[in-house]
Amino acid sequence: MSKVLVLKSSILAQASQSSKMADYFTGEWLSHNPDSQVTERDLAGTPVPVLDSELFDALRQNSTELSERQKAALALSEEMISELKTHDVIVITAPMYNFAIPTQLKNYFDLVARAGMTFQYTEKGAQGLLKGKRAIVLISHGGIYKGGPRDTIPSYLSVFLEFIGITDVEFIHAEGLSLGEESAKQAHLNANKLMDDIIQEMIQTLPEENAA
Ligand SMILES: Cc1cc2nc3c(=O)[nH]c(=O)nc-3n(C[C@H](O)[C@H](O)[C@H](O)COP(=O)(O)O)c2cc1C
Repeated sequence: MSKVLVLKSSILAQASQSSKMADYFTGEWLSHNPDSQVTERDLAGTPVPVLDSELFDALRQNSTELSERQKAALALSEEMISELKTHDVIVITAPMYNFAIPTQLKNYFDLVARAGMTFQYTEKGAQGLLKGKRAIVLISHGGIYKGGPRDTIPSYLSVFLEFIGITDVEFIHAEGLSLGEESAKQAHLNANKLMDDIIQEMIQTLPEENAA
């Protein structure tokens, strides 16, 4: 049975369009697999601290005596890595803010990118350690950029996820969300259709006794 981890990162709370996409995905997935485990982490609601030199020292285990702040960040980093390892489908919402992912999502990446835990250096270069996972990235933005130079999120996230070992990555865009009601409605319909296709594919690969 696939265990799904949903990472939400919008700062717009109830008005979030990317969270709406994630909720559609989990709603549809659970309607087919009511017993499936879905874990949600809201990175804007409960923010991950910004990586600075004090926290980086703790993550590299350079400090012998840890401050309370270092201890808390280390514990959170380990909790989040363990969570990543125990889920096989990772749904990441990636709303575009100023042509980049939200700071809150970047802060999460900074705490889960740990040598020896999610990647390792070898003679052939860095090697990702998270294996057998599938990531589905839900991108929302106001303009229409897919495939062009402003479509910055897929290239960055492909590189980062591959670095930690996740190479099976799909990107679903809901774009043109600031171009009027009809554009936004159509964007969600298109994104929902793509999510439906992925869910059907996920259901087909489930062992028979788990399929609803
Ligand atoms: C601070 C901020 C910056 C934004 N920057 C961009 C941008 O660079 N390009 C764009 O197309 N839309 C931009 N938008 C629009 C958002 O991408 C759009 O509102 C989208 O729905 C955000 O996803 P969310 O609703 O899940 O937060 C921005 C919105 C905010 C609040």
